[in-house]
Amino acid sequence: MILPIYTYGQPVLRQEAEDIAPDYPELPELIQNMWDTLARSEGIGLAAPQIGLSIRLVVIDLDVISEDLPEYKDYRRVFINPYIEEYDENETDTSEEGCLSLPGIHETVRRPTRIRVTYLDEQFQEHDEWVGGYLARVMQHEFDHLDGKVFTDHLKGLRRQLVKSKLIDLIKGRFSCSYKVKLRK
Ligand code: NI
Repeated sequence: MILPIYTYGQPVLRQEAEDIAPDYPELPELIQNMWDTLARSEGIGLAAPQIGLSIRLVVIDLDVISEDLPEYKDYRRVFINPYIEEYDENETDTSEEGCLSLPGIHETVRRPTRIRVTYLDEQFQEHDEWVGGYLARVMQHEFDHLDGKVFTDHLKGLRRQLVKSKLIDLIKGRFSCSYKVKLRK
């Protein structure tokens, strides 16, 4: 089932999301709905707050970019209760980012290239690993959503000033996109 995407201005996007337990109600259906929603909106990642649920659950599909980055062929993963434990601050890089909750906004964001993450997979098996490359960027973007952050929070100076009016447009519903959204009432 395709769910509406909560867009900028929705309070749930600014909340600290809660861990979930294996008996979370209808978790397999919820995960399937997140995959369906992600595919429909042609995104590469979706965090539960973006569908209005303040829980630590993320899906990432890098297979959709595997033509450019073949190492991510068939990479589709579910992350439950993920946390970024460490950032390797020795190296950062920049790349353009967008977000299904911020339609129409694309900005270059500087981030560390390596992070250490802990999470549970779909079978609730624990993982603790260092991640690099494009995946590290996508994880930082998605896991930020679980801490009430969006990618424009990382902009500095003039870029941050310039994006403000676009964010106000989002809050006021002055935008269009190709997928179903849920605006703040
Ligand atoms: Ni996002």
